[in-house]
Amino acid sequence: MINKDIIILGIESSCDETAVAVVKNGREVLSNVINTQIEIHTEYGGVVPEIASRNHIRNISTVFIESINQSGIGYDDIDAIACTYGPGLVGALLVGLSYGKALSFALGKPLVGVNHIEGHIASNYITYPELKPPFVCVMMSGGNTQIVLVKDYTSFEVLGKTRDDAVGEAFDKVARVVGLGYPGGPKVDELAKQGNDTIDMPKTHFENLDFSFSGIKTAVINLNHNNPKINKANLCKSFEKTITEILIENTNKAVDITGVKTVVLAGGVSANSYIRQEFLNLEKDGLKVYMPEMKLCTDNGAMIASAGYYSFINGKRDELSLNAVPNLKLSY
Ligand code: KG4
Repeated sequence: MINKDIIILGIESSCDETAVAVVKNGREVLSNVINTQIEIHTEYGGVVPEIASRNHIRNISTVFIESINQSGIGYDDIDAIACTYGPGLVGALLVGLSYGKALSFALGKPLVGVNHIEGHIASNYITYPELKPPFVCVMMSGGNTQIVLVKDYTSFEVLGKTRDDAVGEAFDKVARVVGLGYPGGPKVDELAKQGNDTIDMPKTHFENLDFSFSGIKTAVINLNHNNPKINKANLCKSFEKTITEILIENTNKAVDITGVKTVVLAGGVSANSYIRQEFLNLEKDGLKVYMPEMKLCTDNGAMIASAGYYSFINGKRDELSLNAVPNLKLSY
């Protein structure tokens, strides 16, 4: 058998980033072009789905061409087109997916649909060439929060998930009520650095590894509403610290249940400086902890190409009838 490099083109458009990347053998990034719409949506205090879709349409060809040019490959070098098909905003997803399907048809290359969550997990394969499953993944983004046992590159077991808000959603809401604006997570992160953990916050516990973040979110809203002079930096710090404790408590339970001592962070909230530092501290307890490099924490095409590579070599091929699935779950 000839040992040939496998080149995957990855397309991501599930929310407010239009992104296209070229990745070799699932790990080596040849290009990773991202057009973010953050500035556009800031005016509205959050992502407006219709505006996101329209901007994806406006940008996707330019992002694609720039990604091909930066990678130095020709169309013939591409082995497959990997494309996010869920979860996410349906109109936004459809833009990237339709573009991917058109490329697949025009270039005669196989189409591989990718679950966005698998993409976030795979961002770590790019940052750490030595990382291999099994590991416990703490997936925390704007739309999802779950603890996943990654048994193999394409085999997942969800051990616990949020019963209400995603952790990123809670960060964004707290930022909004405190008056920090959008995007909330990074602003709470910055303000919390100036504060102290002086305010008690509620924690919700479950028998299993599920999460709930609506109680702590409401507590922050009420504290802020009832005490107009409250120190906002202390509020942010106390919120961030309690959220981190909740994430770490469930991670430790997952490690105990599975016996797997490798912990991997994924998703936009894994860019939080306090969460990163506290998870790294778990290495003192004998765990090995990985987290994506900052530029790969939030949405990008490289992570989709990496996840697509593992699906592709595992035999996954999709028909051109593949549709967007806004509430796509991790299959296990
Ligand atoms: O993974 P992501 O880019 O999009 C989804 O797939 O949902 O995550 C976006 C989320 C937002 O809620 C954003 O506020 C949060 O990640 N985020 C952060 C930080 N950077 C981004 N949350 C806390 N601290 C940060 N530094």
